[in-house]
Amino acid sequence: MRLHPPVSLPHSLEAFAVEPDAVQIVWRNLPVGPVHLSCADTSLVVDSDGGPGAAELSDLPHSSDLVVSVQLDGQPASHLHITTPTPPPGERLSQFATVSDLHLGSSRFGMLFKMREDADVAVPHPIRCALAATAEATAWGAQHLLLKGDLTHHTKADEWPQLEHLVRSFKVPYQFTLGNHDRQPKKKGIDTDKGMANAGLDYRPVHHVDLPGIRLVVADTSIPLKGHGQVTKIADEVTEAMSATTTGVYLGVHHHFEKFALPWFWPPGIPVSEGPAFLRAIRQANPNVIVSSGHTHRNRAYFRHGVLITEVGSPKDYPGVWAGYTVYEGGITQTIRRVADPASIAWTDRTRRAVGGVWGLWAPGYLDQRCLSHTW
Ligand SMILES: [Fe+2]
Ligand SMILES: [Fe+2]
Repeated sequence: MRLHPPVSLPHSLEAFAVEPDAVQIVWRNLPVGPVHLSCADTSLVVDSDGGPGAAELSDLPHSSDLVVSVQLDGQPASHLHITTPTPPPGERLSQFATVSDLHLGSSRFGMLFKMREDADVAVPHPIRCALAATAEATAWGAQHLLLKGDLTHHTKADEWPQLEHLVRSFKVPYQFTLGNHDRQPKKKGIDTDKGMANAGLDYRPVHHVDLPGIRLVVADTSIPLKGHGQVTKIADEVTEAMSATTTGVYLGVHHHFEKFALPWFWPPGIPVSEGPAFLRAIRQANPNVIVSSGHTHRNRAYFRHGVLITEVGSPKDYPGVWAGYTVYEGGITQTIRRVADPASIAWTDRTRRAVGGVWGLWAPGYLDQRCLSHTW
């Protein structure tokens, strides 16, 4: 099991996302007051409220070893060494972003001893973090948004209008798919189809849209009343969509692909009885493919059967993220950024203490698995 190493820099300063031309710096507890950040030819000043925060330094040179300097009260406080990745070859063609595991309607996080927000909070953290994540992703440059399931917590009647409110806030087109939580009505839960209809959502098990340089395919791996996923029912339509394009393909699903016959961590994903054959089939349909899931609420990247697969965490629990993709003629980059909105990061940073603090080590993943450059 690989755990994210504890951050030892003063104030828990960290480069959470590193992109060919930008870096996201995050911190846990800088003193109240102005914070001067600089890197290469870029500098900016942000106001720290004494709690966790995030800032972006942009217009950086790619493929470079750089130093991010941090000054407090005009005095050098810390510095970080970063390396900006090399983008794939060719022109930059398009950008899109994803969020998953919104769990709209949930009120607690953790196992056994669950963390809860103050009851008098104006906007509950699931919808607050989802609104902030999608707004920040759009400001980053996303021309399209994908929602990869677990949109509601228990498909309750009052959760679907929150989803409707969220998608109506989008300034760019979107597609969505469902997760296990959207298919498991609990007490006061309503039928999923009825919930989607009430929210004005147009559901299709598999659908796609073409952006310059890439086909985005979104597929539903959920099974009614089950926690794990399946691909058998969607495989033919997915491979057909993948083979019928000359561009690369991004496949967004909810469930991750299990590595072993017996799942070794919670929650269970797509079993090995289905996953490997599906991955081999999609690679044969289109060798230029990246697959990304949610469900695990953690960040990871790995190759299985020659296919690059990433898992991306939730915007509502530590570290609280969205994923951004930039498409080039010769490949794609992924970045995973923390939701920077102060009211959101204040909550998500608290949730690192879940599961006796293990969540803060398990969920973030490594920088080189969150932010990567992949040449087709
Ligand atoms: Fe989830
Ligand atoms: Fe899930």
